[in-house]
Amino acid sequence: MSQRVVPLEIPPAEFRRLGHDLIDRIADLLGSAGERPLTPGETPAEVRKLLGRAPLPQRGAEPAALLEETTRLLLEHSLFNGHPRFMGYITSPPAPIGVLADLLAAAVNPNVGGWELSPMASEIEAQTVRWIAELVGYPPDCGGLLVSGGNMANLVCFLAGRRAVLGEAVRAGGLAGAGPLRVYVSAATHTWVQKATDLFGLGTDAIRWIPVDAGGRMDPAALRAQLAADLAAGDRPLMLVGTAGTVGTGAVDPIRELAAIARDHRVWFHVDGAYGAPAAALPDGPEELKSLALADSLAVDPHKWLYAPLEVGCVLVREAARLPEAFSYTPSYYHFDTEGEEPPINYYERGLQNSRGFRALKVWLGLRQAGREGYVRMIADDCRLAAVLHRSATEHPEIEALTLGLSIATFRYVPEDLDPGTPDADAYLDGLNQALLARLKTGGELFVTNAILEGRFVLRACIVNFRTTEADAAAVPELVARAGRVLDAELRPGELRAGVAR
Ligand SMILES: Cc1ncc(COP(=O)(O)O)c(C=O)c1O
Repeated sequence: MSQRVVPLEIPPAEFRRLGHDLIDRIADLLGSAGERPLTPGETPAEVRKLLGRAPLPQRGAEPAALLEETTRLLLEHSLFNGHPRFMGYITSPPAPIGVLADLLAAAVNPNVGGWELSPMASEIEAQTVRWIAELVGYPPDCGGLLVSGGNMANLVCFLAGRRAVLGEAVRAGGLAGAGPLRVYVSAATHTWVQKATDLFGLGTDAIRWIPVDAGGRMDPAALRAQLAADLAAGDRPLMLVGTAGTVGTGAVDPIRELAAIARDHRVWFHVDGAYGAPAAALPDGPEELKSLALADSLAVDPHKWLYAPLEVGCVLVREAARLPEAFSYTPSYYHFDTEGEEPPINYYERGLQNSRGFRALKVWLGLRQAGREGYVRMIADDCRLAAVLHRSATEHPEIEALTLGLSIATFRYVPEDLDPGTPDADAYLDGLNQALLARLKTGGELFVTNAILEGRFVLRACIVNFRTTEADAAAVPELVARAGRVLDAELRPGELRAGVAR
C-alpha cells in the first residue's frame, strides 16, 4: 500500500487550476446576474432529459471534464435567486463572501458537533449566534445554535419549549399523561407548526389557529377567549407562537401583548422571526419588533434577510440551559471535555444534529463584511423598494395594489375594463392571476409568488435582494400588466367582455 490508488484524490497543482477556472466562472455568474434570464423556465421532463437515465457509473471520470460539464448544466438550467428581479417566496441572493466561506468551510471540514473536532469553528459559531442576537435585540448571553433553516430553527425552539414546560419527565415518559396539550398560533403562521405538533407527539389537533385582524396580526382578544375556553375544558396550554413577519404579507404580531398573555398563562412564548427579525435592527422599524427579547425562544433565518447562501437558520433561547436540558445525552463513546472555567461548547448537546457542518462561517463573514450599519442599510433599502413597488402598483391603472408589510407588497392584475366585485368577475380574476403567475414564473424576466388575501388569489413580491434596484421595483407593475393583457385576451369569457350586458 505504499502507492495507494485513491480515485478521489486531486493533486494540488490540478486542484489549483480547476479551482481557479471554477472561481472565474462563478465570478462571471455573480457579475452578470441581471443580464442572464432569471430562469430557463424548463419543465421537469426537459430537465430530466438533460441528465438522462444512465445507471451509476461503473468507472470514474476526469474532474476537469466533470466540472466543465456540471458548471454548464447548472449555469444554463438553474433559476437564479441572485437575479435583481427575483422577488419570490423569501429567498435572498447569496452574499459573495458567503460563497467563498462555504468553499473554505468545506475545505477545513470541521465537525461542529464537538468542540475538540472544531475548536475555531465552534467559537465562531458561538460568536455568530451572539452577534445575531445583538442585531435583533435579543439578550446576547442567550443560548443558540445554527441549523439548516427557519423550519429547523422553529422545530428546535419548539422542542426546547416542550421540555421546559413539561419538565424532565417528558424525556423518558413522552406525552402520556401530559393532558390535551394546546399550541396557540395565528391563522397566518407558517406550516412548520403542523410538522412540529405532528412529529413531536401532540398531533395537529393541538393547534389553536387564532384569527388575525385586517392587517394579518393575531387578535389578542380572540387568543384570550380561546385560552379561557380551553382551560375551562381542562386542556393544557403549552406554547404561544407569535410571528414577526408573516410569510404572506410581512405582518408582525403584537409581540409585547402576546408576551404578557404567555406570562399570565405560564406558557412558553416562541417567536418565529424567520423572515422579519433582522428588521428589528432598523432604527425606524416596526415598534413590535423592538420586543423580541420578551420571547423565550426566537427563530431567525440568516439565509433569508441576512443574505447568507442556503442553508442556515438560527435558534435563540433566552435561558441558555434550556437547550442542553432538551437535547443532551452523553453516550459512552464520546469523551468530550465538559469541565473547566470556560467549558467547551459541544453543539451536539444543543440540537437535533450530531455531526454538524460549519454553517456559521458564511454568516460570520457576512456580518463582519457589512457590519451592523451595512445590514441596516440593505434591509432598509429592501423595505423602501417594496414601498416603491407598491406605490408604482397604486399608480398603474391595471394593477390593484393591496398590502405592504416589511419588504412584501401584494397586488393583482385587474383589466381596466373589468369591474371587480361581482362573483363572476372575482372568480375570473382569481383564475387570471393564477395563470398570470404561472406564466411570469417561467418567463425569465420577473419571479414573484402569491398570497391569499380574504379568499382572493393575489400576487406577492418579497424583496430580500441586495441586487434589486429602484428601476427593477418600479418596473414590476408594467411587467405584470403586459403579461396580464396577453393572458386576458386569451382567457376572458365572452360574458365578461366590455359591452356585454351583465
Ligand atoms: C415566517 C416563516 N417561518 C418559517 C419559514 C421556514 O423557513 P425555511 O424555509 O428556511 O425552513 C419561513 C419561510 O419562508 C417563514 O417565512
